[in-house]
Amino acid sequence: MSGLLTFDGRVVLVTGAGGGLGREYALAFGQRGAAVIVNDLGGDIKGGGRSSAAADKVVEEIRAKGGKAVANYDSVEDGEKLIQTALDAFGRIDIVVNNAGILRDRSFARTSDTDWDLIHRVHLRGSFLVTRAAWNHMKNQKFGRIIMTSSAAGIYGNFGQANYSAAKLGLLGLANTLAIEGQKYNIHCNTIAPTAGSRLTETVMPPDLVQSLKAEYVAPLVLWLCHEACQENGGLFEVGAGWIGKLRWERSLGRTVRQKNKSMTPEAVRDTWNEICDFTDATKPASIQESLHTLVEVLSRVEDERGIRANPTGASAGTNPSAAVGQTLPEMSFTYTHMNCILYALGVGMSTKEPDHLKFLFEGHEDFSCLPTFGVIPAQSAMMGLGSIPGLNLDFTRLLHGEQYLEMFRPLPTSGTLTSQARVADVLDKGSGMVILLDVHTYSGRELVCYNQFSVFIVGAGGFGGKRASQKAVVTVPLPDRPPDAVIVEQTSKDQAALYRLSGDWNPLHIDPGFAAMGGFKSPILHGLCSFGFAARHVLKQYAGNDVSRFKSIKVRFVKPVYPGQSLQTEMWKEANRIHIQCKVKETGGVVLSGAYIDLHADASVSAGPPQTDSLQSDLVFAEIGRRIKDTGDELVKKVNAVFGWEISKNGKTVRHWTIDLKTGRGSLHKGATKSDVTFTISDEDFMEVVMGRLNPQKAFFAGKLKVKGNIMLSQKLEVVLKDYAKL
Ligand code: NAI
Repeated sequence: MSGLLTFDGRVVLVTGAGGGLGREYALAFGQRGAAVIVNDLGGDIKGGGRSSAAADKVVEEIRAKGGKAVANYDSVEDGEKLIQTALDAFGRIDIVVNNAGILRDRSFARTSDTDWDLIHRVHLRGSFLVTRAAWNHMKNQKFGRIIMTSSAAGIYGNFGQANYSAAKLGLLGLANTLAIEGQKYNIHCNTIAPTAGSRLTETVMPPDLVQSLKAEYVAPLVLWLCHEACQENGGLFEVGAGWIGKLRWERSLGRTVRQKNKSMTPEAVRDTWNEICDFTDATKPASIQESLHTLVEVLSRVEDERGIRANPTGASAGTNPSAAVGQTLPEMSFTYTHMNCILYALGVGMSTKEPDHLKFLFEGHEDFSCLPTFGVIPAQSAMMGLGSIPGLNLDFTRLLHGEQYLEMFRPLPTSGTLTSQARVADVLDKGSGMVILLDVHTYSGRELVCYNQFSVFIVGAGGFGGKRASQKAVVTVPLPDRPPDAVIVEQTSKDQAALYRLSGDWNPLHIDPGFAAMGGFKSPILHGLCSFGFAARHVLKQYAGNDVSRFKSIKVRFVKPVYPGQSLQTEMWKEANRIHIQCKVKETGGVVLSGAYIDLHADASVSAGPPQTDSLQSDLVFAEIGRRIKDTGDELVKKVNAVFGWEISKNGKTVRHWTIDLKTGRGSLHKGATKSDVTFTISDEDFMEVVMGRLNPQKAFFAGKLKVKGNIMLSQKLEVVLKDYAKL
């Protein structure tokens, strides 16, 4: 960065600028081109007396150096008059440095009403009155910079300064809110806690320290914070001796003491005290929303009885994402009937008003079907399971469901029990946050039904030095550059979220107005996966005649919330079997789902090609092996040094050849047969049985389910490449 920071054309008011720190600021602003209002009442340090001499002297100093300055001798308690001086002399006010101050130190017991009131009147009320007088001018001109002067005595407390500490920390509270209210008008408000030798500190500091802690070591921070180029807003800085540091709040992970349907007791607080006060992996909440999110999360966790430990949180401290990759969650079981399928269909907006919806709403329909996007339902609880994964140290209050991929391997049964296996596929460092890729495979009996990839974004948990991208991520794709080929608009009902949640997402954010308000929403919002369901069935209707067997996969990125009652507009672009989609809220035009697409299987009734083999279950495992070779091929080639061939059969016919080459270069995976050291022949189903650990490879061999040609001893080395994922 280069260039001198100048203030030409800016008008600055520095209160209490007749001496000490204020004088230094006034001189520095004057020197860099600002027109300065040098305010000082000219009293003594306890607030007594008045004189114009102090302010006049500084004005003369500025003018002597060629700067522009006028004096003002009013007390900051007459805030309007100070601002009027600026308007009269220079026609505007851009920057206010609230600096004027006095001391009336007493031990607390001896603090009189006057000691208390005078301090508050000058520091807190004075800063309020001056700033309020400037506020509308700043707002109208869409520029303003404000400094509040706090003190270490306020931040940390100091013997004999109860009145002063209270007022000084009051200024921080004032600044915090002004920073929020001013942001959209480009009014920034920051707080400093300076330390410098001055008449205020000469009573408490040794003379040589008063000499060496020069006010000129504080002024540069004030100037930078007041410059138009500085975007800092709502910051708190300690500054002195040429050093500047920023402060923020830290909060322990805490402990939820309350349990569902039990009264909360002081004894429980006592018994969990160490945990409440334990700062290990502490978080740094930076806004009231973040703070309230924790409470929202706690309420929902207590209601769900998901344990009494508060948010396991911790943006980055103590996280070891590499330890999390490959971790699996306990198998999840999900039993359902036709009722769940129908409830889900209603939840994603199906209605008997549309005759073609009946096949999803009436179990007696001859073609009764379950919507493919129901495939997320048996898998969704895996996201909450992330809390138990070692190395992640998650703060659920910062968790956003970023993206979703769902791939179907067969249509969902309309009732039954599905089991799901979840595994952390990868953990990425996006700087502003951490992305966890959670793969969930869902089975009906032994058959793979669907695969979900949840992309979970943890705000503020990035910066741990991890990789930014992963080959394991199923990525979003850009839209074609042309108007959509088809658009379906459908209004969600006021009760859409109330209905959708019955499919298993019980987060009160989607039903309880108070809860939603705490999360910063004007009313409960629709589930992202509900909009996802709407968009998917729009495509299914538009391009697949509602034939669920044609649905192959869907990928979406969740962008913005939808309020129940708003209309969803699904825009579709057809490119062969891929339908690109974008979903908007019609009323606002805001994009809700982006980078999205749905892949359909070709329509069997129009394309009489070779039998469909594009959905072998084993393909998924080989894809994973391929990614692993790309990541660690070098290492594998060194360890294994062999070429493995695979012949995968379906219904007694070989339908797929794979070659895993761990001999040449950095290793590779090819679809197709090449010369191998050893070749395995196995059916798609048995391959999955072995991979899932349900069929022992030796037994498969002796039972004739697995055939091996070539150097059989090499099969032992396969474990290196298939480890964890596939137990062959
Ligand atoms: P200082 O006493 O040299 O300067 C304060 C100035 O404010 C004086 O010139 C005084 O006449 C003026 N003033 C007092 N009451 C006023 C009123 N009602 N209206 C207009 N002007 C008034 O003190 P110093 O050290 O320069 O302090 C500046 C600010 O920094 C104060 O707010 C103080 O509390 C704060 N501060 C200073 C520290 C230090 O180490 N010097 C430590 C922490 C905070």
